[in-house]
Amino acid sequence: AAIEKGGYDHFMIKEIFEQPQTIFDSLRGRLDAKKGTLTMGGIREYADMLKNANRIIIVACGTSWHAGLVAEYMIEELCRIPVEVEYASEFRYRNPVVGPGDVIIAVSQSGETADTLVAIESAKEKGAIILGICNVVGSSIARASHAGAYTHAGPEIGVASTKAFTAQLAVLCLVGLMVAKEKGAITPQRFQHLLDELENVPEKVATTLELNEQVKNIAAKYKDARDFLYLGRGYNFPVALEGALKLKEISYIHAEGYPAAEMKHGPIALVDENLPVVFVATKDSYYEKVVSNIQEIKARKGKVIAVITEGDTIIPGMADDIIVVPEADELVAPMISVIPLQLLAYHIGVLKGLDVDKPRNLAKSVTVE
Ligand code: G6P
Repeated sequence: AAIEKGGYDHFMIKEIFEQPQTIFDSLRGRLDAKKGTLTMGGIREYADMLKNANRIIIVACGTSWHAGLVAEYMIEELCRIPVEVEYASEFRYRNPVVGPGDVIIAVSQSGETADTLVAIESAKEKGAIILGICNVVGSSIARASHAGAYTHAGPEIGVASTKAFTAQLAVLCLVGLMVAKEKGAITPQRFQHLLDELENVPEKVATTLELNEQVKNIAAKYKDARDFLYLGRGYNFPVALEGALKLKEISYIHAEGYPAAEMKHGPIALVDENLPVVFVATKDSYYEKVVSNIQEIKARKGKVIAVITEGDTIIPGMADDIIVVPEADELVAPMISVIPLQLLAYHIGVLKGLDVDKPRNLAKSVTVE
């Protein structure tokens, strides 16, 4: 088992550290930034259907649902096509309005999640086109889809998903860019810029992983907190949700992810000197707004841990702890900003002496409804 873990203590941390490679593998053969080209073999023949879709509905569960949420922001912005993101379990039971002209994208690491599988089967019967984004080749969801694109994260053993998530983000970004290009919804300059940005992600993730020891120290400082709040806006809102989910899964600490502005409508009541609030506050179009949200937390004596972009001179003067990540376009930033949150959950779990690879009550893939 020690050999399988490649010298790491747990599969989870091994898989976290694999991400520069697994993101690269998920882009490889598809993206060529130098040539300015993008090819998605598996779904190319559905490109017309995608660009003319009435709407795109993303169905998924758990961490894959969070990847879908990032994709909603991305595809709507790049392609100007309405996107909905649905929990597969809710979608399948509520007799949704779906039919020809709708494209369903099912996102699933295992490709075996029962709710997601049944959701796409019923949407298919109603005439929708189904695209699968799965990690496991030949899995049930991959087979039930009309076409798809695999993530190339390799086998994920840790029950809490890490490298599959960033691979999903990479592939969903490729899909969004492909459709935007086909539709003529993106300028050549922006297209090229995003290809370059995507290509640079693996290296920036590698740089972010160098923060491991620092994140471990932050973990030691906050590991006994009873609750955590995770806040972000825009592309970083789903990252906040994912950070909270990771912490819950691995450390059994209650955590909530929220859109930073929405906290005023409830969670702010929880803020006192004992509440750590993790802000995903990288430099993007929402940055100024997030800074005022941090002020609102500090005014109520909450402890702020902020994931920020290098060169930020404002938040370091406000936050209790900062984690500085490389600059990136906001569309690709979630692949980078989620890394410290995965590490934080991991280290808190380990410091609490928990079985981080196999958290209680959780299953790697949920094949029952
Ligand atoms: C389980 C796993 C999660 C995963 C979710 C969806 O809850 O523990 O890590 O995100 O299922 O799984 P899928 O294989 O469909 O992505």
